[in-house]
Amino acid sequence: MKQVTIHAPATVANLVCGFDVLGMCLNEPYDIMQVKLLDKREVIISSADGYNLPSDPALNTAGAPLLSILEEVKESIGFEVIINKQIKPGSGIGSSAASAAGSVAAANHLLGDIFSKEDLVRFAMIGEKVASGVKHADNISPCIYGGVTLIRSIFPLDIVPIPSPSLYVTVVHPQIEVRTSDARQILRKEVLLKDAIRQWGNIGGLVAGFIKNDYDLIGRSLEDVIIEPVRSMLIPGFDEIKQQCKSAGAMGGGISGSGPSIFMLSRDKATAENVKNVMKEIYDRIGLAHHLYVTTINHEGVKITED
Ligand code: HSE
Repeated sequence: MKQVTIHAPATVANLVCGFDVLGMCLNEPYDIMQVKLLDKREVIISSADGYNLPSDPALNTAGAPLLSILEEVKESIGFEVIINKQIKPGSGIGSSAASAAGSVAAANHLLGDIFSKEDLVRFAMIGEKVASGVKHADNISPCIYGGVTLIRSIFPLDIVPIPSPSLYVTVVHPQIEVRTSDARQILRKEVLLKDAIRQWGNIGGLVAGFIKNDYDLIGRSLEDVIIEPVRSMLIPGFDEIKQQCKSAGAMGGGISGSGPSIFMLSRDKATAENVKNVMKEIYDRIGLAHHLYVTTINHEGVKITED
């Protein structure tokens, strides 16, 4: 039967001010998955990594979206998925989204591209619900569309791809786990009007900055007065890292998704490398193991190769 190999990239959700509505696709790291078309209505999940994720497809972020595809496609087909995760679960750089987006993109290809990208986001959000208890698309959409995306609405889905200038992204992933469900639970349910006004000014500014290639506007708009003050308490060294990285030339940045990863945007590679060294020095001093990436925006999203 037909089989494909998938590269499902990491993503940065929220982009500081755009909680649940903005996301960006990265070139590195990415998960690798093999997906095979079966001639029987079943979904088989196995992993080639050490993460011990559930193999029951209904409980697996790659499996649950495939089960819902099978409900829509009435043919006698199924899928076998082998997942090799390179994006650690609970890292804040879209690990669950990569599994979900990768599996639905593969399934669609194997079925002859019968679904639109928007359909794929709809299916993949079922995987996010399995992972965090809530359907959100700010990791899924950039993973499927590539680049930067705005989720104007989830119900009904309204995804707006946003053009973006050339940027370097430095990510530090401290080796602690922050579960998205926990990081959502601690958020306040009400927002002060003055904070909301500041936040939507920043979201508008960030989107305009991306479209106009206005690096200063992007930098000024990377401010979050609602979510970051609460969640940053879960991330050791957060305030120092943010401040020192900006002093080293980063345009700005903040918590990646629900954390604990922190990302910073830079105009050029040399600055992005300096920012990486700053992050490393701080976590070495604190004594916290971490992974570092210097990467760029991935404009393609999930990559499919026929085996
Ligand atoms: N927007 C989501 C959150 C992303 O911040 O909870 C989680 O991956």
